[in-house]
Amino acid sequence: MTTTIEIQRVENSKITSVDFDNLPFGSVYSDHMLTCDFKDGAWQTPKIEPFAPISLDPSAKIFHYGQSIFEGMKAYKDKDGNTMLFRPLDNCDRLNKSAERLVIPQIPEDIFMDGLKALLKIDNAWIPKKEGSSLYIRPFMFASGNGFHASPADAYKFIICTAPSGAYFAGKVKVLIEEKYARAANGGVGFAKAGGNYAAQFYPTKLAIEKGYNQVIWTDDNTHQFIEEAGAMNIFVRIENTLITSPTSDRILDGITRKSILQIAADNDIETEVRKISVGEVVAAAKNGSLKEMFGAGTAAVISPIAGFGYKEEDFDLPVLENPFATKLKKLITDIQTNKSEDPYGWRVFVK
Ligand code: PLP
Ligand code: COI
Repeated sequence: MTTTIEIQRVENSKITSVDFDNLPFGSVYSDHMLTCDFKDGAWQTPKIEPFAPISLDPSAKIFHYGQSIFEGMKAYKDKDGNTMLFRPLDNCDRLNKSAERLVIPQIPEDIFMDGLKALLKIDNAWIPKKEGSSLYIRPFMFASGNGFHASPADAYKFIICTAPSGAYFAGKVKVLIEEKYARAANGGVGFAKAGGNYAAQFYPTKLAIEKGYNQVIWTDDNTHQFIEEAGAMNIFVRIENTLITSPTSDRILDGITRKSILQIAADNDIETEVRKISVGEVVAAAKNGSLKEMFGAGTAAVISPIAGFGYKEEDFDLPVLENPFATKLKKLITDIQTNKSEDPYGWRVFVK
């Protein structure tokens, strides 16, 4: 590690108050956070300090113009106590792609990686060991500089917080295929992990939840005829024995889980296709029995099987299979993430 980091430790750890056998998702926070300020045109010395509220001027541009981006990652523990990350440089890279689109300064890879590793070492005891649990990592950057002028801020903050977490979804996932609203448009920021993308989803998702669904399946903003992604996941559809996912675009987040699954599936004799998926095709397949599975894929949700979907006031149930691709792929990817199998791709990064 080459980056200089100022370290201030907590006086008393909160860890004994945490029930590691019953972890929620993302709402219990570890003792420390990494913070780094961008001002006067440069990133300052990163700090590790106690997790605590931060102070911002009410005129900070994050509040007014939404210059805010984030990432989602996980740290895992293996049976020997080693700590691993999964493709972390891809998250750093994607954060910087999001930053470019939102005119936020690029975070240097060494601040991101050295800062994250140092934080994981200090809060090592917070990384859950229980199967299905992990330490969810939330790196984010936002405009801390002031002013009501609608232009990019002159100061930013980069923060990494962590949260020991259990499953993102509590039970079966039922989704609604969206016919009216859109989360992203051509030329917009859908490919970026911008906070505003999620804010824009809340209203249609609230309407879907009121109807008894957990998530919206976003369709293309122009025709609403093509399935694109779920609220916090990329989406896979299995018709007969082919696993299909939509191509990435301006409107879709280039998910790290998505691309890993495509690779693992191809290497495990599962036929994959990356192509547009029409809603008509999925509905027809549901009706004629060739629709075998749908699942969402993302860091938080891992692989979440979809039990059924709604479209135009009609509900369709997915069949219950004995050996679904979702279960097989989830095991293959989590075994790599948690050091239970070989990692032929070099995706695991040990934190030493
Ligand atoms: N799509 C959206 C909108 C997301 O928020 C996420 C979560 O990060 C994903 C897809 C999956 O991306 P990844 O697999 O990199 O976590
Ligand atoms: C993730 O999967 O890490 C995400 O960022 C999804 C999040 C919106 C909960």
